Amino acid sequence: MVEMEKIVSLCKRRGFIFQSSEIYGGTGSCWDYGPLGVELKSNVKHAWWRDCVQLRSDMVGLDSSILMHPRVWQASGHLDHFTDPMVDCRACKRRFRADKLEEEEWVHYCDATKGNKFVVKGGEPCKHCGGKRSLCPVCGKGQLTDPRQFNLMFKTFMGPVEDEAAVTYLRPETAQGIFVNFDNVLQAMRLKLPFGVAQIGKAFRNEITPGNFTFRTREFEQMEIEFFCLPGTDEEWHQKWIDERFSWYPRLGMRRENLRLREHEKDELAHYAKRTADIEYLFPMGWSELEGIANRSDFDLKRHSQFSGKSLEYFDEETKQKVMPYVIEPSAGADRATLAFLVDSYFEEEVRGEKRVVLRFHSELAPIKTAVLPLLKKNSKIVETAKRLCGALSRRWYAVYDDTASIGRLYRRQDEVGTPFCVTVDVQTVGDEKAAADEKVTIRDRNSMGQVRVSMAALEPVMEKLMAGNWADVAREAGRVTD
Ligand code: GAP
Repeated sequence: MVEMEKIVSLCKRRGFIFQSSEIYGGTGSCWDYGPLGVELKSNVKHAWWRDCVQLRSDMVGLDSSILMHPRVWQASGHLDHFTDPMVDCRACKRRFRADKLEEEEWVHYCDATKGNKFVVKGGEPCKHCGGKRSLCPVCGKGQLTDPRQFNLMFKTFMGPVEDEAAVTYLRPETAQGIFVNFDNVLQAMRLKLPFGVAQIGKAFRNEITPGNFTFRTREFEQMEIEFFCLPGTDEEWHQKWIDERFSWYPRLGMRRENLRLREHEKDELAHYAKRTADIEYLFPMGWSELEGIANRSDFDLKRHSQFSGKSLEYFDEETKQKVMPYVIEPSAGADRATLAFLVDSYFEEEVRGEKRVVLRFHSELAPIKTAVLPLLKKNSKIVETAKRLCGALSRRWYAVYDDTASIGRLYRRQDEVGTPFCVTVDVQTVGDEKAAADEKVTIRDRNSMGQVRVSMAALEPVMEKLMAGNWADVAREAGRVTD
């Protein structure tokens, strides 16, 4: 497994992800997506939207606002329950999540065994004095305060007056925008249960301990589905969505062995959940949540009915009765998924005695789909042909032209950002005084480093086959050229 530092460094060096406001020293836990990062993340979101909305007849989309009526957060339970226990260091003023500190081992100077310093295992008190960790794990000097509940929502003010009446919150999940629009969507689209509403958008949480690069941040993007179904069918739909979402990541190239499902214990279920299963990924820091799939029962629609005074029941034509729909919620993080795809595709190999770093992205996710490279940048015919081809390919795929290094170096650069195919234009393509042009270009495959020569006229249909994952067929038909 690659270390996170390598991913962070590659992301900065090659324009995937930068520290936010870096020239001012950076902001804690906020990140900016650079030119290649924005392509990658947008490809992840596009694949999700296509598979969860466009290819399903039982799904529609929504884009609701980030700022909502403050009552939404009372109804949803976020004002009362969306909290983490937190302790502060009285000396250095650092803040920690009490439950996370509890899990870690700590150094103890025990009064019961004078002068004795030893390490106590995470989750256990000292076996001599029964004491618990009381000193700051970072500065080692300050006393820790008792745990206090800390609400993770960002508070702000709506309008010009900053008083209590104007307080509102940045949404901590996109889900509530879907619940409050349930009836609008139902009526406008004349839907029948079961159906789902999908939304991709920003969410904000004032996390006490953000970290691990883009894994836990204070501003992030979610890809959420609220799937409404009849009570009694919820358990079956829940299982269907767990299976569907678990198979989505490998369909986009993620290695199956790096994914697992974890069922929530009863005592860790969110206040609204009847059952939750997490899809976990083996990140560099260990197995961690990638996506949660919860059965939210009828909690949200019931609460919004109560708090808004508007009925959110559904009239079931078959039984001629009103029912409160149940909700299955597959909730994924766009940033977490992007990070997982990055980590999963990272490989270091040795090629002819040299290190090759390669991101083996699925071609659908790769930020750049193809790079068009001139073999000789001083030959104007080669350069013109390469630029023309790049322009033509760009209409369908994100293509780049590069002539700033030797061909070997250009290939390695493209490998490092995961470009699945490079197209090279050489003297044979355009011809010279000794030989007529053969009108063919070389296509090089990132994964195998194999090469084929195909006619320029056929480049677009060939690329289409390659993007669909048919390198072996294309190589067989064209007859392989050596690396
Ligand atoms: N509506 C349900 C909900 O928000 P969640 O498990 O708190 O559930 C869903 O969040 C997903 O959102 C997570 O699986 C994760 O991918 C992403 N996510 C949550 N908090 C995050 C954070 N602080 N930074 C980045 N992604 C986060």
